[in-house]
Amino acid sequence: MCGIVGILGKHEVSPQILDALKRLEYRGYDSAGIATVHRGQLDRRRAVGKLINLSDRLVHDPLPGKAGIGHTRWATHGAPTEANAHPHQTGPVAVVHNGIIENFRALRDELTAQGAQFSSETDTETIVQLTSRYLAQGMTPVQAARATLKRLEGAFALAFLFDGEEDLIICARRGSPLCIGHGEGEMYLGSDAIALAGMTDRITYLEEGDWAILSRGGLQIFDAEDQQATRPAARIAVESVQIDKSGHKHFMAKEMAQQPAILKAAMEQYSSADGSDVTLPEGLDFANVDRLIMVACGTAYYACQVAKYWFERYAGLPVELDIASEFRYREPVLGPRNMAVFVSQSGETADTLAALRHVRPHIGQVVSVVNVVTSSIARESSFALPIHAGPEIGVASTKAFTAQLQVLALLALRAGRDRGRLSEADYAARLDELRSAPGFVAQALDREEEIRRLTESLSQARDVLFLGRGVMFPMALEGALKLKEISYIHAEAYAAGELKHGPIALIDQDLPVIVMAPHDPLFEKTISNMQEVMARQGRVLLISDAKGLAEAGEVPQALQMPSVPDLIAPIVYAVPAQMIAYHTALHRGTDVDQPRNLAKSVTVE
Ligand code: AGP
Repeated sequence: MCGIVGILGKHEVSPQILDALKRLEYRGYDSAGIATVHRGQLDRRRAVGKLINLSDRLVHDPLPGKAGIGHTRWATHGAPTEANAHPHQTGPVAVVHNGIIENFRALRDELTAQGAQFSSETDTETIVQLTSRYLAQGMTPVQAARATLKRLEGAFALAFLFDGEEDLIICARRGSPLCIGHGEGEMYLGSDAIALAGMTDRITYLEEGDWAILSRGGLQIFDAEDQQATRPAARIAVESVQIDKSGHKHFMAKEMAQQPAILKAAMEQYSSADGSDVTLPEGLDFANVDRLIMVACGTAYYACQVAKYWFERYAGLPVELDIASEFRYREPVLGPRNMAVFVSQSGETADTLAALRHVRPHIGQVVSVVNVVTSSIARESSFALPIHAGPEIGVASTKAFTAQLQVLALLALRAGRDRGRLSEADYAARLDELRSAPGFVAQALDREEEIRRLTESLSQARDVLFLGRGVMFPMALEGALKLKEISYIHAEAYAAGELKHGPIALIDQDLPVIVMAPHDPLFEKTISNMQEVMARQGRVLLISDAKGLAEAGEVPQALQMPSVPDLIAPIVYAVPAQMIAYHTALHRGTDVDQPRNLAKSVTVE
C-alpha cells in the first residue's frame, strides 16, 4: 500500500516529510520521493528501494522549500524504478497518489493523442498530465484539480502541488483514506494519523469523495458534489511508541511478545465489571439473527474460519465464510435477519471494504472487528469492535490475529448465551477459559528457543506442508501463510483428513510436515493421518501437549505446548505458527518486518 504526505510548513519541509514517510514504512513500499516548491519553482527527488536511498539523495542534492509532498510507492502499474516513483510531475504540477486509476488507459490514450509525452508506466502520471493540460487551458490550480478529479475513476488519495504556489496543497479522497493535520501556522496531510504523529495530534478525516484546499492559514473541504463541507477535527492519541521496537530485533518480535498483555486488555475491554458477562455496543443483538456472514482477507480470514467453529458450536448460528475478493462477485443471497461480520486489522483493505459496502443496503447489523478505530471499515459499520492491539507495524499479522480471535470468541459466547444455547454456567465457564488465554500464550512464547532450534533444518526446505483438523485446519492455513510471507518458502496447509485424497503423493523424506494437534476430540484421527505421513518417510514435526505427545509415540520432531481448554487452543497455537515462520525467516535472512512484494494493508483490489 502506498503512503502519501504533505506539509505546508514554516521551515524547510524535506526532513519533516522524510520523517513522516518513515512512519509509513510499515505499509510496505519499493520506492519513494519528495517534491517541494521553492522560490516558486517545483522540484523533486526520487529513489528506488528503502528511504535511506532517498535520504542519501537529499544529502547530496538538497531539496529546499517550505511546501512539499512525499510518497512511498508499492508498485501496482510499472516496475519499482525511479521513473515510476512518485511524485509525478508534468510542467507546473506534481502529484502523489495512493490507489488505482481504473480508467488510466483511456485517459492516457486521449492525452497522448493531444501530444502528451509520458515518462512512466504508471496510472498516476495521467493525473498530472490531465491537470497540466487544464492549467494550459487557463484554469486556476483549484479549477484544474477539480476538473481532473471529475475525470478519474477508481480509488485514490491524492495530493497536488503547483509551481508558484507556496501556500497551497490540494488533496482528495476516494476509496483510500486521507487525513489532515492542524499545526500552529502549519498544515499537514497524510494517509493516516501515524504519518503525522510528532507534528500534530489534531486530525480531520476526509470522508469518501471529499477534496480539500489546504493553506497554512486554513482548510476548505468540499464533498463529492463540490458543496463546502465541515468535518470535525479530533485529537487522535497516536502513540509515537509504535515506531519503537522496544529493544526487539524486529517489530514482529515485539508484537508477538505483546500478545499476552493485549489479550488480557481485550478481555477486560469486553468484560462486565464483575467479569460475568460480555459487554457489547448497545443494539448489537443476536436474538433475531438467522445467519452470520463473515468476510475478510488473509490472516483475518483465517480468524473468521476459526470463529465459524465457535459460532456454530457455542451459538448454533450458521456461518457463511467468504474471502473478501470473492464475496460480492458470487452474488451472495442476503437477508434482513443476517448479520455480517468484517474482520480487518487495518480497516482499510479494499476488498473487505468493498464487501462491506456491498452488504450495507441489505443487512441490518454490519459488525466490524478492527484494530484501527478511525478506519473506513470501522466508520462504515453499524458496530465497530476494536481489538485494542495497538498499531501493528510488522507486515505479518501476529498480535492482531490473536486479538481478533479473542474478540470473536467473546462474540460467539455472547451469541450463545443470548440465543439460549449456552447455560449461564457454561457461559461463565467458557469466559473463564478465555480469561486464561493470556497466561497460556505466555507459556507458548517461552518455547521460543526450542522453536528456533527446530527451524534450523526447516529453513533449508523447498516446500512445507501444514496439517490440522477442526479448528486446527485454519491454524494450519495461518501457519502456512506466515511461513510463506516472511521466509518465502512455499508452504501449504491441508485438512489432515484430506491428505489421502491426493496431497499424500507429495510426501517423501524431503518434505517437512508440521502437524498441529492439541489433545482434543479430533486428536486420534489427526495422529492417524500423521502416521500415514511417517509411513512414507515424511519429516513430521508434531505440535501437541504433553498428553498428545505421550500418546503419539515416537516422532521425528516434537514441540510441546501447554495443555489448554479446546476453546482457546487456536489462540495458543497461533504462537508456534508465528514463531516457526519468524525463526525460519531469521535463518534465511529475509526482511521480517517488510517482506518483499507485501504491503501492510492492501488498499487496492
Ligand atoms: C497477514 O500476515 C498478512 N499480512 C495479510 O494476509 C493480512 O492479514 C491481510 O492483508 C488482511 O489485512 P487486514 O486485516 O488489514 O484487512
